[in-house]
Amino acid sequence: MVNPSPQQTWSQRFESALHPAIARFNASIGFDIELIEYDLTGSQAHAKMLAHTGIISPEEGEQLVTGLEQIRQEYRSGQFNPGIDAEDVHFAVERRLTEIVGDVGKKLHTARSRNDQVGTDTRLYLRDQIGQIRQQLRQFQSVLFALAEQHVETLIPGYTHLQRAQPLSLAHHLLAYFDMAQRDWERLGDVYRRVDLLPLGSGALAGTTFPIDRHYSAELLGFGGVYSNSLDGVSDRDFAIEFLCAASLIMVHLSRLSEEVILWASEEFSFVTLKDSCSTGSSIMPQKKNPDVPELVRGKTGRVFGHLQALLVLMKGLPLAYNKDLQEDKEALFDAVKTVRGCLEAMTILLQEGMEFRTERLNSAVAEDFSNATDVADYLAAKGVPFREAYNLVGKVVKTSLAAGKLLKDLTLEEWQSLHPAFENDIYEAIAPARVVSARNSYGGTGFDQVRQALDRARAHLSEP
Ligand code: ARG
Repeated sequence: MVNPSPQQTWSQRFESALHPAIARFNASIGFDIELIEYDLTGSQAHAKMLAHTGIISPEEGEQLVTGLEQIRQEYRSGQFNPGIDAEDVHFAVERRLTEIVGDVGKKLHTARSRNDQVGTDTRLYLRDQIGQIRQQLRQFQSVLFALAEQHVETLIPGYTHLQRAQPLSLAHHLLAYFDMAQRDWERLGDVYRRVDLLPLGSGALAGTTFPIDRHYSAELLGFGGVYSNSLDGVSDRDFAIEFLCAASLIMVHLSRLSEEVILWASEEFSFVTLKDSCSTGSSIMPQKKNPDVPELVRGKTGRVFGHLQALLVLMKGLPLAYNKDLQEDKEALFDAVKTVRGCLEAMTILLQEGMEFRTERLNSAVAEDFSNATDVADYLAAKGVPFREAYNLVGKVVKTSLAAGKLLKDLTLEEWQSLHPAFENDIYEAIAPARVVSARNSYGGTGFDQVRQALDRARAHLSEP
């Protein structure tokens, strides 16, 4: 029989060491090292709580806190690189602590389990990341806002079914993405409230025999509250799933914008020019400039959706309480965080300095189509013709104009009047693109006045704490 390795952390019950392949299979240190700073912070709070409640002496508490701080410095300076023999970040830290402070290091794990510990670390990590993602969303919104301010009177074709529908203020189009990002920002704030609950003190699953003070730990770590059921505390991952839902929606929004930028940058649309700083060439076709950034964002969206699905499936069959399956939550979470943050950063840069709207081309594009047809019907309806009747009549006008190779603005007054006697000379003004846009002055519409009010609302959002 093989003796347990001297490094093996668990109890003497084990007589033989892990098979090396199983040790590798079991280990999470390769990815949960990402949690190390949060693990150190969580452990320092736990040590302080143990001293505060008299479970260990004040001197012991001091030694533990100082030793953990030393590990932080060692990690930051690149001196602490635990290998897979440490199994996970929690064992790695405890082992190094005992090397630094001696036997007192072995007291750190009093009244605690890795189950409530890993839950604590993950929540500390996610709280931090949510804060940073929300800041990134604000930057993204600021860039959209600045662009919108510049382009209130720039027109852009509006589409439904990707068919020209009605012309828009470009600012209105950009502010639609601003509002999506606003919801993302708010949603993450809401998710945060449930990430902000401390499981520490739940023990392995049932609580502990020691007179701990969970509220004191929560206060030290700045948590809004503690889990009120220890079983739920160690096995809940709703907070991670909720985060992944919110992250998926951010990606949906970024991906839709990406798709638009990709279309806009095409020869066929030519609504934007991509700058060299944010696009690449082809290895064979010298004329090409590719929209890599939005393509990658669109492509990476699937990863985040995948992580959400992975965690939902991970959880659905788990009996209470902790199961090792839960170790699988981390890579999903870390990759989703990294992906969302990378995409937000890249899209913000792309909008800010990587592309330019071709204003002239945009303004002329809306003058070359039938997207003012609704306004002809509205014109007649305003003169008392029932809308459905006007609608049918304009359908006929569009058909005859198309056949004659003419746009609506090219019809003579006689032609208009032969279609309906209600047409007068002001029809030309009524169907001019800028007028068509400015006339949509209903709340939330694309009319310039409405867009200016929307900019005021957006500015107010940007200064929300
Ligand atoms: N590495 C583990 C995880 O990520 C830590 C918790 C281990 N707990 C246990 N009972 N084996 O979930």
